[in-house]
Formats: sequence, C-alpha cells, structure tokens
Amino acid sequence: MKKRTIVALPGDGIGRIVLDETIRVLTAAGFEADYVEGDIGWEFWCKEGRPLPERTIELLEEHKIGLFGAITSKPKDEANNELIPELQGKGLVYKSPIVGLRQHFKMDICLRPCKTYKGNPLNFIRRGSNGHPEEPEVDVAIFRQNTEGLYGGVEWSNPPEEVYDALMTHPQFVKNFGSVPKEEISVSTRIFTKKATERILRAAFEYAHKYGYKAVTVCEKPNVIRETSGMMYKMALQMKKADYPDIELWNTNIDAQMMWLTKNPENYGVIVAGNMFGDIISDGFAGLIGGLGFACSAQMGESGVAVFEPTHGSAPKYADYKVSIVNPIAMIESACMMLDYIEEGEMAVKIRKAVAEVIAEGKVRTYDMLKMAGRPDVIEKGAASTTQMADAIISKL
Ligand code: NAI
Ligand code: MG
Repeated sequence: MKKRTIVALPGDGIGRIVLDETIRVLTAAGFEADYVEGDIGWEFWCKEGRPLPERTIELLEEHKIGLFGAITSKPKDEANNELIPELQGKGLVYKSPIVGLRQHFKMDICLRPCKTYKGNPLNFIRRGSNGHPEEPEVDVAIFRQNTEGLYGGVEWSNPPEEVYDALMTHPQFVKNFGSVPKEEISVSTRIFTKKATERILRAAFEYAHKYGYKAVTVCEKPNVIRETSGMMYKMALQMKKADYPDIELWNTNIDAQMMWLTKNPENYGVIVAGNMFGDIISDGFAGLIGGLGFACSAQMGESGVAVFEPTHGSAPKYADYKVSIVNPIAMIESACMMLDYIEEGEMAVKIRKAVAEVIAEGKVRTYDMLKMAGRPDVIEKGAASTTQMADAIISKL
C-alpha cells in the first residue's frame, strides 16, 4: 500500500482530543500514513489575525486530504477582544475557518450518513402498531449542497438603492413589501446554480447506485419555493430518467420530512437537499442515531481536496478535563469516510465493524451513551473516557 500524507487539522477544544484518538484507531487498523499538522482555529485568530493561515491552505493544496477536529467560533466583539494587542484596531474581521475552507476549495458536496448501530442506547424508539416499542433501523445518506443557497452570504439589511430598485421590479415584492421603509428590510438570498445543483444530484444518484439504495429523495419545498427548489426537483427528474432509470426518485417537503422523521425513518435511503434544508434534515436524522457523538461528515469538491469531520463543535466546556469524556466515534466515523474516499474501503469496513462490536457489547460507553450530564465525575460513575472508548475499538481490530 502506498503511504499517504494526511493533513491533520485538530482545531480547538475537543477537536484535538478526538483527532488524536482517531489517528490511534487508524494506525491500529493498519492504515499507514504520515500526518502533517495544519494550523487552524481560535489560537491562530488570536495570535495572527487569521484562523485559517495561508500555510494551512497550501498544505491541503499539496496533500488534498484533511482530517478535521472542530473549531471554536465566537461573536464579533468577543473575537476582537481576544486578538493580541498588536493586532487590535486593525479592522480584522473573524470569519469561520471551516466555512473559509469550504469556499476556498469549493467543497460543494457535503455527505452526512446516519446509520443505526445495534445496541446503541441512544437509538430512536417509537411505539409500534401493536403498542410495543420498536427501534427502526435508520440507514440514510444525506447529500447537502455546501456552498450556495441561504449560506451563500449574499444578504443585506437596509439594502443598497440599486438592490432595492431591482427588488421593486418584482410584482410580489411590490405587493408584499412595497410599503415597508427600505431601512426596515433585511434580505437573505437563496441562490441555486444549475452547475452546483447538477453536481449534488449526481453525487446523490451515484452514491445510491454504488451502494444499492433503491431511492433518492429530493427534500426541498418545490411547491412554494418554485425557482430554486423547483429547479432542483426538475433536474432530478431529468437525471433519473436519463441516467438512473432503476433508482426511484421521491420528492418530500422539508417540513413534512421532519414530521416523517419519527414516523418512518427506515423508509429513506439517499436524501439530497440544498444547503439550509440539508443542514436541518441531517441534524434531524443524526438525532435518531445517537446525536453529536455519532454524526460524521465529508466535504468534497472538484478541486480534489476533501475534508472529513465530525459535525459536532469544539465543546469548550469539556476541553480541559484531565480525563477527556467526549465520544470519539463521530470523528472515527469521519475517518472511515476518508478511507472510503481514498479507496481504502476495506479498512473502513474493519473499523466500522469494531465500533459496531463495542456498541453492541455495551460494556464500554461514553457519558452521552449513558445519558449522563457531562461532568468530570462521569468516569467514576462508570462512563468510559475518550481514550477507553478508542482502546475498546482498537482491541476489536
Ligand atoms: P458543540 O457541538 O461543541 O457541543 C454541544 C454539546 O454537545 C456539548 O456541550 C456536549 O454536551 C455535546 N457534544 C459535542 N461533541 C460531543 C462528543 N464528541 N461527545 C459527546 N458529547 C458531545 O456545540 P456548541 O457548544 O454549540 O459550540 C461550541 C463551539 O464549537 C462554538 O464555538 C461553535 O461555534 C463551535 N462549533 C464548531 C463546529 C465545527 O467546527 N464544525 C460545529 C459546531 C459548533
Ligand atoms: Mg448543523
């Protein structure tokens, strides 16, 4: 096997903790790689005024594959106050480095799989038709468009004259907002392009094809948001007809889908959505399979740079515990997605199997799996530490 170089991006807080444990698991599974560390996060904002230094971008350009822990973001004023004195008052503005990475490398495809592990005490349970509790087995892969839509950043409060004038050319704007003073109007745009929409749909269909899912569901709101959601659904219809006749195409509205989440989550396979709805629906499904300790993600794009990360943040309140209590599984699962991406899928299978065995056995559980409040004493009360969880997984490998 060719030895890989992976850019390890620990970031802040528990990011480093879960990343270190994950690298131990990767190594134990036989994955041979050199890890180079990329600077990213709060420390570099405070010291350098840049949470995403140029040297980190260069590292990713060179090596292409990033394993990312988590970063801390803070509100504008707090961010400015924490800059070193030499950098204060220079008009620096904090911008999330993970959003920066997505934009820089045009990582427009975000994949968030949510799969039930048998025996996870956090699995969603509902009452079945016979009145008894039942545990539906969730196995969905959510494809979220990662760069456009409501997160595209094109927005104004009290919009400039030319924007306002352009809006006033739309009859619906005149009718609904024409009498509102301009200063009282805030606008956030939802822009979809054909190219990005085609790419996210293609990624979803390809995944369904590759892994044998019977249906792709477009989860938007085309009956109301006709132009953007409507375009996505129309393009999906054409794509299915032309290239994926054997895969069913379903169409759900985001609001109804959130309701069905608890009624029939086992019915869904691949789900594809724009940026905002993809974010919502993926958190919804993650809740059914154990929440933040289990939710993993991949971000990929045309540049070939791909970054794999748990969806949780830096959980600063747990960062300085002498013995770390957080669940490393979300990060370990994200690393498995990396292995799939670089065509080391067999190794990913091996690690996932080890994780499944540990969960099914139920002897080693982190505090979240035991439904405890996160405090240092959870270890005395029987919760596994982050390291113990990683050790248990390693022992199964
Ligand atoms: P968070 O995801 O860091 O933590 C929320 C809560 O979830 C924690 O207090 C903890 O109870 C639980 N949790 C998180 N990860 C866990 C794990 N691995 N195992 C067990 N429990 C876990 O979100 P929060 O507190 O809203 O944000 C903290 C910081 O993280 C903020 O600065 C925020 O901006 C940043 N953030 C960064 C993200 C990223 O790097 N992609 C994503 C989300 C938040
Ligand atoms: Mg989210």
